[in-house]
Amino acid sequence: MAETITHDVVIVGAGLAGSWAAMTASQQGVKDIGVLSKIHPLRSHSGAAQGGIAAAINNTRPVAGTGPRGPLEMIPEGDELIDSWELHMFDTIKGSDWLGDHDAIELMVKEAPDIIYEYEHLGCVFSRLPDGRIAQRRFGGHSVPRANYSADYTGHVLLHTVHEQALRHGTKFYSEWYCMDLIIEDNICRGVVAMDILTGEIHTIRAKAVMFGTGGYGRAFKITSNAFANTGDGVAIAYNAGVPLMDMECVQFHPTGLYRHGILMSEACRGEGGYLTNANGDRFMENYAPDKMELAPRDLVSRSEQKEIDEGRGVGSDGQGIYLDMRHLGREKILERLPQVRELALEFVGADMIDTPVPIQPTAHYSMGGIPVNVDGQVLASADGTPVTGFFAAGECACVSVHGANRLGTNSLLGASLFGKRAGVKMAEMVLGGAKLMPISGDPAGKNEERIKALMNREGKENVEDIAQELKTTMTDNCGIFRNDEKLKQALEDIDELQGRFKNASIMDKTNRFNTDVLAAIETDHLLTFSEVIAASAKERKESRGAHSRTDHPKRDDENWIKHILATKDKSTEEPNLSFKDVNIDWERFPPQERKY
Ligand code: FUM
Repeated sequence: MAETITHDVVIVGAGLAGSWAAMTASQQGVKDIGVLSKIHPLRSHSGAAQGGIAAAINNTRPVAGTGPRGPLEMIPEGDELIDSWELHMFDTIKGSDWLGDHDAIELMVKEAPDIIYEYEHLGCVFSRLPDGRIAQRRFGGHSVPRANYSADYTGHVLLHTVHEQALRHGTKFYSEWYCMDLIIEDNICRGVVAMDILTGEIHTIRAKAVMFGTGGYGRAFKITSNAFANTGDGVAIAYNAGVPLMDMECVQFHPTGLYRHGILMSEACRGEGGYLTNANGDRFMENYAPDKMELAPRDLVSRSEQKEIDEGRGVGSDGQGIYLDMRHLGREKILERLPQVRELALEFVGADMIDTPVPIQPTAHYSMGGIPVNVDGQVLASADGTPVTGFFAAGECACVSVHGANRLGTNSLLGASLFGKRAGVKMAEMVLGGAKLMPISGDPAGKNEERIKALMNREGKENVEDIAQELKTTMTDNCGIFRNDEKLKQALEDIDELQGRFKNASIMDKTNRFNTDVLAAIETDHLLTFSEVIAASAKERKESRGAHSRTDHPKRDDENWIKHILATKDKSTEEPNLSFKDVNIDWERFPPQERKY
């Protein structure tokens, strides 16, 4: 039997949320922190975020008289400021389509500048203005330039900065360890079960506080900007352990994924002035968002692209693409500001954006929903706000909720950093306040060993990869950008059938060391688990709000639907039971209004 491991704090996921939590808890004085990562920590998906991190620090403004897409200039010291936390708050609320909680959003936007300066003081290599201040660019749905950036490597440089600090403070990183289970008894989290992928050994890991920073679940869709690792493991594990999931119907499609690959072509391309054109060469956003054009929020731009495609004005061999035209920006600007996306387009589709339009298409990008938490990262056991003692979540797997039904670009790096930090503070408070390792009943590691043995002994004829592909197809076709009751019913039926077939799926590799067959099977099980919750919640929300767009209920319905949907796994049927929670709305300052761009 593999050894039981203990730590004061165990964090699952080494992206920005997990690394901030580790760095902060250790800065507060916690000595014994372990971080599990199913991939190398520096390959965590936060590193793939490209265009920027939001904060109203007032470094740039549009040159007077050049209009909303004109060039930017530095704001000289002492000049009138154009940005504020209030404006950032309004943009975020409007972007969320009034499904984000206003108290949480207020906290995030107020603390945003301090997060940026903390990164700066840690030595993060931001792009700079001529006077040395941090460079800022435009991003979709933001009223003013607010994206603080490092060329198109922003997530990468932020992640490296915080990872180094976590290492410096003595955090123990378990690279290529896969979390399989969460141990909660009597509403107290006591640890996790994880596999050392290299040896195949399964360990129980006991901790006084556990945090999930396990990222998103774009891999449930055919075209996604998400890494292969983003299979929503944390979300599925929490749900299976009895924790509810919130607002799972809200899945963001980013407008510019590389055609047929889904790889992110940063929104910074449009922030720097890129155009979107259809097969007729028209800048079609004129018809959908005449003021903001290509810099409308993602839900609106993705829907507009999809409409152009569905009406036969798409590009590419299957007509499923749109052109991202950057040629007018010029070689120098592209190489300085967007070197990574230029290279990606060149390598994957052979298009050099310096002289060729790049084919792109909407790509599943971000999950607004997830594990419900309060602003200190404490996971909520139910709608009344009771926390699960000792269990925390932050980053994309968590739902605070600051993004509501549609996240604004650059608010994810901010949210992951800030709420990872706040969870770190709270976990430290718990540990330093005398929290104990709690006893664990039974043999959780043994139970998971049996699960793997059972998987290996199966002789059924079904193939795990076929099941995963069929799931992605139905999620894309029936639970994608445009949904309706009939499609969602179809998605639920398909998922049910695939769950049945999964029980008959066998794996070929029966060995212990680095068994990616076993991992793929467990990941597929997770995809099936939370996809059912996405489709069931989407079927329940009979309105269109943010990224959740129902052709059979095309209007937003504020009278009935300013509420979060919570899904809890029914112990007997194993199906999601849905309930509701009020959205925290500041009716005085930010009452719901029509969302026009
Ligand atoms: O388009 C981007 O660079 C992505 C940023 C984000 O999702 O916030």
